[in-house]
Amino acid sequence: MSTAKSILTGIKPTGQVHVGNYAGMIRPTLDLMASNPDGENFLFVANYHALNSIGDPDQVRQFTHEIAACFLALGLNLETTSFYRQSDVPEVFELTTVLGSVTPKGLMNRAHAYKAAVDANAQKPNALPDDGVNMGLFTYPILMSADILLFDAHVVPVGKDQIQHVEFARDIAGYFNRRYETEFFTLPAHSVQENLEAVVGLDGRKMSKSYGNTLPLFGDAKARRKAINRIVTDSKQPEEPKDPDTNTVYQLYAALAEPAEIAHLRARFEDGGLGYGEAKRILADKLDELFEAPKARFEEYMSDRGELEAMMAKASERARDKAARKIAALRRVIGT
Ligand code: ADP
Ligand code: TRP
Repeated sequence: MSTAKSILTGIKPTGQVHVGNYAGMIRPTLDLMASNPDGENFLFVANYHALNSIGDPDQVRQFTHEIAACFLALGLNLETTSFYRQSDVPEVFELTTVLGSVTPKGLMNRAHAYKAAVDANAQKPNALPDDGVNMGLFTYPILMSADILLFDAHVVPVGKDQIQHVEFARDIAGYFNRRYETEFFTLPAHSVQENLEAVVGLDGRKMSKSYGNTLPLFGDAKARRKAINRIVTDSKQPEEPKDPDTNTVYQLYAALAEPAEIAHLRARFEDGGLGYGEAKRILADKLDELFEAPKARFEEYMSDRGELEAMMAKASERARDKAARKIAALRRVIGT
């Protein structure tokens, strides 16, 4: 049996790419795709998913370009990976409609993001349960399932918060396959960094664009150092032993550094003798070391949007071709 796999993932253009995205999704995705020589790789910018939260077209365009430039700067290989914008593959939206017809509404009621919105409304005195929830948010997992199933992805690398969505895609593929008594859609599986919990942000909560607590990957290095210096720590003196696991500086370092470096810093925290000032400097140095060269490449890509668009148009060809063939076959299965 062939071991060739199809790997697929996407990211929404809703803000500047940050260290949480890098450690949770970008780095593992690039590693997985680089070690899949006999398989197929698909990476895309989920720009229609972004519309649920962003109504400014210039922002959508800007963040889309930033994601493309970011992946290219970090070593994305366009020879071996099809790279596209979701909107460049309109078959995704046709498939979304078809999948809607086999997806029980109750499944969407159980989606974490929707439930979180309803729970938040329950805490507000005069809010109705669905206040602020648009249908894009409610049906988000169906569009995401279409993204995945259209390309028969076997493996979907994501951060842990996305596991439920990939499981939904698997469920929805199953509903379709059972209704039409076929194996038309491949059942996808998520791939996560088992040993990485959500990367913490500057305020100790999960790093997220929505919390404004991020370290952008290609931000100004001096501003980044200042932001790191503002991370709140306890008042332990340098010589006192410290618990690395309750410490934002250590946790950020642990998300980025090599295992031997992490073990070394951990021991220094536990033994005492490492002050927070020095720990913050070690973290800032690590970020400079990792992102200085990619940042220069990122800026180079961002400086010529015409060229970037041309690269994206070419990089999407294979995906568009494959999507068209899958939809033609789908129409035969469903009789449309
Ligand atoms: P955000 O929460 O900042 O809006 P996205 O939802 O766009 O981030 O996430 C893009 C990818 O990065 C997803 O695969 C997600 O699981 C991953 N990711 C986002 N934030 C983190 C984090 N703090 N730690 C680990 N992975 C993350
Ligand atoms: N929902 C993902 C996120 O918020 C983005 C996404 C959209 C995605 N479609 C996808 C990820 C398909 C993997 C596969 O990060």
